[in-house]
Amino acid sequence: MDKSYQKTTKPLTITDLQAMKQGGEKISCLTAYDASFSSLLDKVGIDLLLVGDSLGMVIQGQASTVPVTMTDMIYHSRCVARARRRAFVVADLPFMSYATLKMALQNAAALMQSGGAQMVKFEGAKPEIISALVAEGVPVCGHLGLLPQSINQLGGYRVQGKDSQAAQKIIEDAQKIEQAGASLLVLECVPSSLAQQICRQLSIPVIGIGAGADCDGQILVLYDILNIDSGRKPRFFKDFLAESGSVENAVQLYHSEVKEGLYPGPEHSY
Ligand code: KIV
Repeated sequence: MDKSYQKTTKPLTITDLQAMKQGGEKISCLTAYDASFSSLLDKVGIDLLLVGDSLGMVIQGQASTVPVTMTDMIYHSRCVARARRRAFVVADLPFMSYATLKMALQNAAALMQSGGAQMVKFEGAKPEIISALVAEGVPVCGHLGLLPQSINQLGGYRVQGKDSQAAQKIIEDAQKIEQAGASLLVLECVPSSLAQQICRQLSIPVIGIGAGADCDGQILVLYDILNIDSGRKPRFFKDFLAESGSVENAVQLYHSEVKEGLYPGPEHSY
């Protein structure tokens, strides 16, 4: 390992991410599930690593994120947190792990204490849970739009907020999440015009996945940018490996395209 990288690298904080939004610098984010990729992504300069419950699909071969447990999340979060130097580490609270306030508090504590996460993310607008976590010193990332943990209710992975009523509900939920004290918001699979409106209204950084170019940052599932899954590709899919020839170059290309506002293009947006 490059010794100067180890010595000079200062860990990013939530204040740095906030300053990026204010300064108009795009935030580059990827999912990570293990120490090797955590270290590689960190060295390239990815700002935020999400230990996503998408690990249920890409690591465990499950059909959805629903079977993922707290034990799984703690294990993978610890692997990622141990290897990163600079990147900010966020971990998902899995399905049903925040069904009650007590469960949310206990499980967020476990992700931070045993998993080494710096922030927890969970799906949906639950302001009372956000404010209770924030009151205990747990930074929170909200997640709106397509909510993969609700796939059995949704019946499929579809774009959300397409009609004006659904769009208004997402706008109101985003405001509630910010007012409750969340520090970040992930917006998944929504029209880019809706994401743009939300990014302008909120003072916290909004990270998009299939939410257009106007978000304050972008996130993708790591294995998708490397085109590892041969299944159906969403519109926002882009194979960065094909153009770059190595895993490290693919991550570098993704990072620079996000920073320069080149990814996502209109062809990746709804
Ligand atoms: O679990 C995950 O990978 C996520 C991203 C899709 C945002 O939540």
